[in-house]
Amino acid sequence: MASNSTTSTTFLASSLLLALTISQVSYAEPQNPRLGGMTSVNQNDRNAFSRPSANLSPLRQLDFKVGNSFFKAPWVMAPASTTARDGLGPLINTNACQNCHLKDGRGHVPAYNPDRDAMTDQAVSLFLRLSRPALTEADKQQQAKYGPLPDPVYGGQLQNMATPGITPEGEMKLTYTTKTVTYPDGRETELRVPHYELINPAYGQPTAGLHMSPRIAPLMVGLGLLELVSEQDILANADPDDRNNDGISGKANYVWDRQKQATALGRFGWKAAEPSLKQQNSGAFAGDMGLTTSLHPDTDCTSSQPCEKSVSGGTPEVPDKTLNHVTFYTQHLAVPIQRASDSEEVQQGYQHFKNAGCNQCHIEHWTTGKASDRPELSNQKIRPFTDLLLHDMGEGLADNRPEYLANGREWRTAPLWGVGVNKVVTGQENYLHDGRARTLEEAILWHGGEAEISRNHYMALDNDQRQQLLQFLESL
Ligand code: HEC
Ligand code: HEC
Repeated sequence: MASNSTTSTTFLASSLLLALTISQVSYAEPQNPRLGGMTSVNQNDRNAFSRPSANLSPLRQLDFKVGNSFFKAPWVMAPASTTARDGLGPLINTNACQNCHLKDGRGHVPAYNPDRDAMTDQAVSLFLRLSRPALTEADKQQQAKYGPLPDPVYGGQLQNMATPGITPEGEMKLTYTTKTVTYPDGRETELRVPHYELINPAYGQPTAGLHMSPRIAPLMVGLGLLELVSEQDILANADPDDRNNDGISGKANYVWDRQKQATALGRFGWKAAEPSLKQQNSGAFAGDMGLTTSLHPDTDCTSSQPCEKSVSGGTPEVPDKTLNHVTFYTQHLAVPIQRASDSEEVQQGYQHFKNAGCNQCHIEHWTTGKASDRPELSNQKIRPFTDLLLHDMGEGLADNRPEYLANGREWRTAPLWGVGVNKVVTGQENYLHDGRARTLEEAILWHGGEAEISRNHYMALDNDQRQQLLQFLESL
């Protein structure tokens, strides 16, 4: 097993200076523990991510419940006695949304045995997005406007499961090496470096130079609030060419909106490649479960695969009414209230978070816009800790796979609300886009590229201060 330390622990005087300048900014906004405004719920047990917005009327809670049932329940193959949930497959990752978004929290990475350097169970909530490289100018334009170019045989995603009688596409193989990071005070931490391979491809060799991007299912709370932050407010933080010279760019992704048939701001997914929850959900039905919708009349099954063998569950297989109920559900999952927000440790940690410049990307305060059909989510003062923009996070986190305007090193700033509750809900910790970080500390240590100065600032704190910063994250 390779063990090498590449993370530099020396940092330039200029980065210190910058960090000091950041810390002088004053913050007038109050620290309301209701991270999701009036929608927030006071719950931090195993069901903390499954509650409807606190201000949702009993009547509207019924819609939430219907959406929940389609999110939770397994879909089945057609023909079936239930026509409401049939049409599954043939190529799938699993048969229910909830199997990946565990209890509405994030997914798990597959179990791994270090002695054998091998996975010991099937990957479910971590899958590989696939695409072929853009070789010509026309390819590049197509990619930038309509998104990644699917592999001609395997499509846009590896489906490692299938309905009976159909061969799954192949398997994801995950192994790890380790990398030691040494703090300025001499303390050492070991990171695990994941390596991905597509093995046993069942339909022939994929394209030469196939791009693969591992993605873990993110947690589901507060998404309807993020959907309502205005584009104008988001763009106010964008600085793609880093004109203010702070080392942090922040780039909006622009993606294809299937409903509007036009380009729109991307908000959802680890690279902000989906413009709305409806389209994200529709893509999940089609890509993860082989179910067609009005927005995705085709699944990820290509003409080189035996898709016609499977019986259709209708046209589309997921009726609009169902897609709308699921979308309502994903819009109204509530964010838990911040815990111990007044404690001395959390308050100190919050100061270190700001001093380290974490909040340059993990932007704290927003006010949602207005949507007449979503009054509960409208005009809410929220603290999601994201700018919804893309940042170059360095070579260590790079997937080298472009997605619309996001390049192979860029990721959308992950929201931090709920980050401290996730382990209670799902019983595991695995942060970042592929779940490689086993602790919040590891997640910070992986920050490179535009976030390197900030990471170095964190590393230069003394041990007590670092613990305080982590306690602040735990409170969210
Ligand atoms: C096989 C696992 C899997 C299944 C099944 C699944 N998801 Fe996901 N989900 C993911 C992954 C992985 C992502 C991140 C995708 C990306 O970055 O491209 C995601 C992202 C999302 C997001 C965006 C969250 C964010 O923070 O941006 C929503 C909403 C979502 N899924 C809803 C659903 C719904 C609804 C279903 C069922 C119809 C579903 N998912 C089924 C794995 C899954
Ligand atoms: C340059 C922008 C930037 C800065 C500065 C930054 N982050 Fe991040 N952060 C990101 C992005 C982008 C991701 C998602 C990266 C990925 O998944 O590969 C992320 C992810 C995280 C995560 C994991 C969240 C999850 O759900 O998996 C944590 C925790 C985190 N950041 C904390 C911090 C802390 C603490 C600091 C300050 C020491 C910081 N970040 C500074 C951009 C930034």
